[in-house]
Amino acid sequence: WLWVRNLRQNRRLPGPFAWPVVGNAMQLGQMPHITFSKLAKKYGNVYQISLGSNKIVVLNGEVAIRQALLKHSTAFAGRPNFGTFQMVSGGKSMVFGSYTRLWKEHRRIAQSTIRAFSTANSHTKKLFEQHVVGEAIDLIKVFLCLGADSCYFEPGHELTVAAANVICALCFGKRYSHDDQEFKTLLGRVDKFGQTVGAGSLVDAMPWLQAFPNPVRSGYLNFKELNDEFFEFVKDKIIQHRQTYDPEVTRDMSDAIIGVIEHGTGTGDGLTKEHVEGTVNDLMGAGQDTISTALHWVLLLLVKYPNIQTKIQELIDKEVGRERLPTIEDKSKLAYLEAFIYETMRFTSFVPITIPHSTTSDVTIEGHYIPKDTVVFVNQWSVNHDELKWKDPHVFEPSRFLNESGIIDRDLTNSVMIFSMGKRRCIGDQIAKLQIFLFTAILLHQCTFEANPADKPSLDCSYGLSLKPTHFVLTAKLRGTFLDLVS
Ligand code: HEM
Repeated sequence: WLWVRNLRQNRRLPGPFAWPVVGNAMQLGQMPHITFSKLAKKYGNVYQISLGSNKIVVLNGEVAIRQALLKHSTAFAGRPNFGTFQMVSGGKSMVFGSYTRLWKEHRRIAQSTIRAFSTANSHTKKLFEQHVVGEAIDLIKVFLCLGADSCYFEPGHELTVAAANVICALCFGKRYSHDDQEFKTLLGRVDKFGQTVGAGSLVDAMPWLQAFPNPVRSGYLNFKELNDEFFEFVKDKIIQHRQTYDPEVTRDMSDAIIGVIEHGTGTGDGLTKEHVEGTVNDLMGAGQDTISTALHWVLLLLVKYPNIQTKIQELIDKEVGRERLPTIEDKSKLAYLEAFIYETMRFTSFVPITIPHSTTSDVTIEGHYIPKDTVVFVNQWSVNHDELKWKDPHVFEPSRFLNESGIIDRDLTNSVMIFSMGKRRCIGDQIAKLQIFLFTAILLHQCTFEANPADKPSLDCSYGLSLKPTHFVLTAKLRGTFLDLVS
């Protein structure tokens, strides 16, 4: 048996030649997910690269990824033991934590807390909806101010505040004004987080780069600083919550998590006080940047494809009317809008590679042996751009998700891979989809967005855990008159 094991271990996975010291670091390019998809054409869907001292297995395409994350779900449920991962949420992060019995409990608590404050029942769904509607209305007001006299503006900061406010309201029962300087500073650096933890980041691959000044080291130091700053903000809020905690009244997610972990109303067995801060910090981090990135792409694609924007507006006017704002209940009548959102997720694949995984045991995928503790990159972009699965994958075409009767094709929407799958699948997928739907529907009900004719919208973006449009401006025009609700 040992002999067979040794033989398997010595059989190197296919993959490009790795240079000494740096491995394949210099070959990743600006968009590693696209490089990985190209390499898959040459080496197959499961291959190996090296980044510094780390051997990494890259998984591409639906079949290999499903086999790994669903069929061998436990074997692929780990996270690498990276220094930067230990820095997040004071070392008590669920998102970046390794797969243990305690972690399972941690994830269960985080998951049921999200549900309890969103989709658990019609009452919680309505309360959740009210938060989003409030933020969408505020966003419209700010956009209309910024876009007055056909001024063009960058919507980035406002989208970040709107998204952060929804998760802040859920976590702390508190929101911030769009011109709150402290909040602005706090959020201003958050997008740098994803550049450090995104697949292909060199910070953990080549620790020796921290010994002398270079861009990787400054990235590392900035990462530490921004994590500490964000975590301090969260800890401060949790301290306030502890001081005013009342077991009879659960005001928000922080209270709920304090209740389960510290007051034993659930089974927070083995989780400590520090896990409370860790969990809330995780939810704030995971729930804010992703949604604001999604909204960035939504607006960019709406101004890039004005005909699609008009088509969605006509549909909303027909199904919802001009007398009230769209609600979650309207979703089933707005199939083309839902198709637009799925196409935005597929086409941009704005979380192109999941957070890095690692193997928790030896495992074999498509005949390739992968030892325990191997770092694994899961290339979601490759699934969404597979030419065998999607007709013209590089074309933005929302109607691809509708059948001849205009009904959403659920098999196809389920094939879009942006929330990952298996034991590490995103636990915010439902609230994410609801938020993107509501924000988009309400914004388009009230406003028309236009690109600057002198500055054509470009799909250029920066790479990290999420892909962010690098530069784009637009203007917002009110459609008709403000609803009483909005004024
Ligand atoms: C993890 C996508 C919104 C909470 C993830 C992962 C992806 C993802 C790709 C990594 C999965 C893996 O490593 O295999 C997205 C996208 C979002 C979104 C595209 C928005 C459009 C949210 C929201 C929340 C959330 C709103 C909660 C407030 C989490 C958590 C994890 C996670 C807690 C860690 C799961 C784990 O490690 O077990 N998400 N996410 N996400 N997401 Fe999301």
